[in-house]
Amino acid sequence: MKDLPYAEPYKTKMVEYMRPSTIEERKQWIKEADYNLFNLSSDKVFIDLLTDSGTGAMSDKQWAEMMVGDESYAGSQSYLKLRDTVRRITGFQYFLPTHQGRAAENVLFSVLVNDGDIVPGNSHFDTTKGHIEFRKASVVDCTIDEAFNTTVFHPFKGNVNIEKLENSLKLNAGKVPFVIVTITCNSAGGQPVSMENIRAVSEVCKRRHIPLLIDAARFAENAYFIKMREEGYRNKSIKEIVKEFFSYTDGMTMSAKKDGLVNMGGFIALNNEEVYKKASVFSIMFEGFKTYGGLNGRDMGALAVGLDEATEFDYLHSRIGQVAYLGELLVKYGVPVQQPFGGHAIFLDANKFVLTIPRDEYRAQALAIELYIVGGIRSVEIGTILADRDPFTHKNRYPELELVRLAIPRRTYSLNHMRYVASVIRKIYDSRSQAKRGYRIIDEAPIMRHFTVKLEKIKT
Ligand code: F0G
Repeated sequence: MKDLPYAEPYKTKMVEYMRPSTIEERKQWIKEADYNLFNLSSDKVFIDLLTDSGTGAMSDKQWAEMMVGDESYAGSQSYLKLRDTVRRITGFQYFLPTHQGRAAENVLFSVLVNDGDIVPGNSHFDTTKGHIEFRKASVVDCTIDEAFNTTVFHPFKGNVNIEKLENSLKLNAGKVPFVIVTITCNSAGGQPVSMENIRAVSEVCKRRHIPLLIDAARFAENAYFIKMREEGYRNKSIKEIVKEFFSYTDGMTMSAKKDGLVNMGGFIALNNEEVYKKASVFSIMFEGFKTYGGLNGRDMGALAVGLDEATEFDYLHSRIGQVAYLGELLVKYGVPVQQPFGGHAIFLDANKFVLTIPRDEYRAQALAIELYIVGGIRSVEIGTILADRDPFTHKNRYPELELVRLAIPRRTYSLNHMRYVASVIRKIYDSRSQAKRGYRIIDEAPIMRHFTVKLEKIKT
């Protein structure tokens, strides 16, 4: 169908109603939620772009698989189906299911991370960083500098700067248990990592005998970008690209709530038998027996099907095309967004959008709140609140970028919904000079404060 216009390769079989509300209602609700969008009940949200994690729609084939799920405690057939699918798609030999991505991190890091360790990577996701810092170790961000400028066009802004990596390995010799590369790089704006870059990172790691791990939550979307943007991959299938990418690495943690196309699930896959054995013991204590790891049999079955569906070109073309559609509308309206667009989300650049609110009054959070009040759209702050305080100095950490993420759930919303979102943002953008004051924190947790933080509006 190459000569025809593009259309989604699926149709709708079931619908879920969304409740419209008024601006007055939303002003009241967000105040009652202490200006924390995580505190809103979902019936008070019109379009929910808080996350693309576990919020996608499963296919009829996945639902059919749910019906034949094998709930045996040990040796479940659904587990075997999933294990074989993971082996076939990733090439890794050992596989351990977990209830979600952060559980995979917890189980694997319990074996690998020790007090005082240093874990270099490309803008680690907050749970990854959290699980490392929780073990009194630290991360070093070796992402390329281009990632921190939202207007520079670089096809692979998730890439690792090899020089920064080499320096950090030299400086911390003997203290690095592994390097972790996140694909796509969520914290840098859903930006991909190139095959050339992972090969280079792999060579550096091999020379120093340091394992290379992948945080693979959005590995299929990353493969799509390699196919479309990197020379030599246009005629390769997504599955071939995925297999080659993982072949340069030693293992992965996976949040299957993204490119597994399921609502809950995760896993670890790796080649090192010894690490697998140790991780299995920890998993049995905290997640469940190694053939279910906190998942229902039916969930594992649906995930096996989801992994195959997510690694098909037509699906990815429609998925990433929808995200780009929203991005292009916003660019047309002059709204500052991270470019090129990420795979799973559009990121508003709050440092350029809300210049009038000081950074210590959480300008990205202020913008996210405005999106909710004006249009009932729930997004998420990826800025100073998320960055937490420095664990040693307890001062706010100000990241290079203050972003608001509009994460698009998979196979869930229509292009018309994207048009609605773009119009709301355009309206806010056109009146941006009226924003003066932001918010102050009145209560926060010592780690991952964004989930539970309470805020109050600073009066003008
Ligand atoms: N790694 C990455 C790159 C992620 O984006 C996430 C989750 C995780 C690990 C943790 O996985 O949620 O299954 O425990 N990201 C979600 C998000 C929460 O909204 O971006 P999890």
